[in-house]
Order: sequence, then C-alpha cells, then structure tokens
Amino acid sequence: MKINYLAQKTFKVASPLEGVNSIEKELLKESFLVVQSDGAFLSTLTPSDIVESPYQLVIDSIHHKPRVDCNQEVESVLELMRETGNYVLPVFEENEFIGVVTKDDILDYLVEYRNDLERTVAEHTEELSRVNNQLRAQIDKRKKAEKKTKASLKEKEILLSEIHHRVKNNLRVISSLLDLSSMRTQDQKAISLFTNAKSKIQTMALIHSQVYRNERFDQIHMGTYIQELVNYLLQVHETENISVTPIIECSDVVVPLTQAIPCALVLNELVSNSLKHAFKGKERGKIEISIQKSDDVVSMRVKDDGIGIPEGIDVFSSNSLGLRLVRNTVQGQLMGKIHIERDFGTTITVEFKILKKETPNA
Ligand SMILES: Nc1ncnc2c1ncn2[C@@H]1O[C@H](COP(=O)(O)OP(=O)(O)OP(=O)(O)O)[C@@H](O)[C@H]1O
Ligand SMILES: [Mg+2]
Repeated sequence: MKINYLAQKTFKVASPLEGVNSIEKELLKESFLVVQSDGAFLSTLTPSDIVESPYQLVIDSIHHKPRVDCNQEVESVLELMRETGNYVLPVFEENEFIGVVTKDDILDYLVEYRNDLERTVAEHTEELSRVNNQLRAQIDKRKKAEKKTKASLKEKEILLSEIHHRVKNNLRVISSLLDLSSMRTQDQKAISLFTNAKSKIQTMALIHSQVYRNERFDQIHMGTYIQELVNYLLQVHETENISVTPIIECSDVVVPLTQAIPCALVLNELVSNSLKHAFKGKERGKIEISIQKSDDVVSMRVKDDGIGIPEGIDVFSSNSLGLRLVRNTVQGQLMGKIHIERDFGTTITVEFKILKKETPNA
C-alpha cells in the first residue's frame, strides 16, 4: 500500500511567529504540530524534538528531517521511522507537501490490514471447505452411479452371453430334430436335403458358440471360426474313398457379427460344394480356404483342385439352390462381388466391405 493513502489531511499548524512558549503549550495538548511559515511547510514538531533541542535549532534542522514520497510503500516508511527515530514524517507529492504520516497511523493501518487479510482468508477457507464438501458429495454420487452402471453393464453382458448360448443350444436342438426326421426316410434326396439344412444350422450355431466364448459380442474372429467350420464340414461330408486335405490360410480377420453369419453361410456352401462335387472319381483332393483383409475390404477364397464346375453351369445365373444362395447372400447381404476361375479345379473368391459401426444419433 502507498503511503499517500495514510497521509493526514487535518493537523494542528503552528507558526514560528507565535513564539516558543505558545508552541510548547500546544505540543502539551497535541502529539505533534506542523510548523508553517507564510503557509509554506517548514517542519514537523513532536514534544521530544523540543525536549532534545532548543526550538530554534529544531526549526533550523528541518532540512535534515527525512521526507516521504507519496508513492513510498507503508512498510518502507515504517522502516525509515525506525532508522531515523522520527515518528512523524511529512509526505510530499513532487515538491508539494500533502500531509503528515505518524507511526501510530501506520501501525493502526497494518493491524487493520492484517485483520482484513485474516478475515478474507477465513472467508475463503470457509468457501473452499464448502466447495470441497460439495465436490466430495458429487464424487461420492458419481462413484455410486458408476458402480451401478458397471454392475448393470456386467448384468447385460451376462444376459447377452446367455442369449447366444441359448440360441446356439436351440439351433443344436433343431439340428437334432432334423437328424431324427432324416432317420425316418430312406430317400437319398430327402436325406441330402436334411443334411444340407442341418449343416447350415450348425454353421450359425458355431458363430453363436464363438460369441458366447468371446469377450466381445459384436465381432467374430474368422480364422478360428473357419477352422471349426471346416472340421465340421469334413465330418458331415466324410467320403470313405477320397482323402481330402484342407489348407487353411487365415490372418486374424475380424468381421462384425452382422456380416459374420452371411459370410459363414457362403463359406459353408462353397466348401460343401468342393467336398460334394469336386473330387468325384478321384482318390485325393485339396481344398484351400483363405481370408484376408486389406483396408476395409475382406477377400475370402475357396479353391479346390477337383474336376471343375461343369461347362454348362453358369455360377452367375444357375438356378440351383446352393449357388443361388451364394449369389443372393454375397450381392444382397454382403454387398460384395463374386469371382470365379475354372483352371485346375474351381476357385471362387468373394470380396466385400466391412460395415462401419452405426453410431447412435450420428
Ligand atoms: N467346386 C465344385 N466342383 C465341381 N462342381 C461344382 C462345384 N461347385 C458346384 N459344382 C456344380 O455346380 C452345381 C450347382 O451347385 P449348387 O451348390 O448350386 O447345387 P448342389 O450343390 O448340387 O445342391 P445344393 O447346394 O442345393 O445342395 C453342382 O451340382 C455341381 O455340379
Ligand atoms: Mg451346393
């Protein structure tokens, strides 16, 4: 704080012309006097000044009394008073006398200032503790809400996993029912229809089985899945006289659940076709199954070294059920493309784009 804030505007003024006695008398009543001559400031006088030196000497020594600049800090003025032993000092702005500051003024001010400061600190401490309590209550509330949300999420995950488990079990039940039905007929065509339907159902059951075992419910690791599917299809289409070697080349391609089921049905059909038709009249055969992903495009290939699809069958227009299902699924559900090569057997490649996740309210 600057000292001009404390400079006194009202004080008793004495003039040298009034005489030493009257000034001394005044000083008995007042703690200090300001001495002026013709309205101009000369000096400050305290009772101790008079005691220590004759009045005239005091007046003469005015130039030796320290002067305070109005911009000086309160603390530095107090320090000046301590050093010089003068406890009443004149304050000047430039060369103009603007008042007087006493040690008591400064001490009173400092006490008041400290009290103010303590009051402010106490108020702020109280405010901080109030805000702190509010924050603590909010944190407690959030922690409780978070715990509740986590518990609810866990519960939903368990439910979802349970649903996949049940779907898989129900599909297995349907598959067994088809088995029972197929046992009641000797008609090979009907038996083949039952087997076909059963293998499609099992194809879907394997997907749900993987989801049930997975940490995530929205995607399928195709590598693991294809291994399981091919093992299953090899059992279903087991042919006594033909030795079929499956070669599976799958990098870790992850496909969203919504695309995994159509993708699996296409694979089922293509691998089943190779197993059923490609190696007629042969002793051994090879089926290569691969799946790769580059950027967002998945490329899935089933290649056999069999007898090849007969010339008369056009994969893109054939009305037979299996190839129609492949076409409809690839073009209608996966929004993809089919390529076929007929050299040294049959190679069918399916390409489709991974669907972007739909973000709610996007
Ligand atoms: N990999 C293959 N090698 C040789 N021939 C094939 C191959 N894939 C398909 N074919 C021929 O194409 C025909 C049509 O196949 P498609 O899958 O549509 O019917 P399917 O397999 O005979 O019957 P479904 O699939 O309904 O059980 C087959 O009957 C077979 O002659
Ligand atoms: Mg078929």
